[in-house]
Amino acid sequence: MVDTSVILSGIKLDNPVIPASGTFGYGKEFAELYDINILGSFSFKGTTKEPRFGNPQPRIAECYSGMINSVGLQNPGVDAVSAKELKELATFFRKPVIANISGFSVEEFVDCAKIMDKEEQVGIIEVNVSCPNVHNGGMSFGVFPESAAEVTKAVKSAVNKPVYIKLSPNVTDITQIAKACEESGADGISLINTLLGMRIDINRRKPVIANKLGGFSGPAIFPVAVGMVYRVAKTVNIPIMGMGGVSRAEDVIEMMMAGAAAVQVGAANLVDPYACKNIIESLPGVMERLGIEKVSDIIGIVE
Ligand code: SIN
Repeated sequence: MVDTSVILSGIKLDNPVIPASGTFGYGKEFAELYDINILGSFSFKGTTKEPRFGNPQPRIAECYSGMINSVGLQNPGVDAVSAKELKELATFFRKPVIANISGFSVEEFVDCAKIMDKEEQVGIIEVNVSCPNVHNGGMSFGVFPESAAEVTKAVKSAVNKPVYIKLSPNVTDITQIAKACEESGADGISLINTLLGMRIDINRRKPVIANKLGGFSGPAIFPVAVGMVYRVAKTVNIPIMGMGGVSRAEDVIEMMMAGAAAVQVGAANLVDPYACKNIIESLPGVMERLGIEKVSDIIGIVE
């Protein structure tokens, strides 16, 4: 029998498959379809200090081999997540969960992180400095090493749980930003968030998305994600959660060979709600075929 388990900042996961933030809500809709306790963990919907209605509609544009979203961090706010979503989650999910947080100032990141740090079921705090869909927040913190470092330092000094910084691919050199986060105390790095993109309705001569641009995700970005995970893994000595266009067990293996210690699955959940279940069920067979006994042995194996 193959061993699919991995260890992320001291937390043992049964397998490396983790639904990505924004594609799995707070778990309950998926728990109605299958027992989500088969997951390694999951990263819940990006949560901010205050509730947010998100961006105007339309927010989604279909693309070849992917999609563009401009949701704009719609969420009920951290207090409601704590009081309601996490209470409910504890009734159907028995594993540590990843709290994905966002902010519009360093203080907001810290306030949100402090509340999540008190939650027993939160295993890792994932700090999203890479949302491309909001102004004066989100990605603006993640495009410069200095601001990414400032958020990292502030959150790290306010919490006890492991802190992973979620990075944007919309930068000149992602390795510099990852290095700055590591030097500021990050326990791990999540990458990549979506690529900034746009579709235009040629009949209306207008952008498809109300916010004009949005974040492109899906299978088309997989090679970009693998390349960035590979480069960052060669630069930092902290674990990486790799993501971007993962839709098959083979993609999980490839992302781990590039250097990911665990793998998040995003847009695929929106195409097929059973995507993570299918990946988890097919992973042992793919490992056997490739002669892999322990999945953790292949992390960063590619020179
Ligand atoms: C969104 O809510 O706009 C997407 C979140 C993200 O890309 O970080």
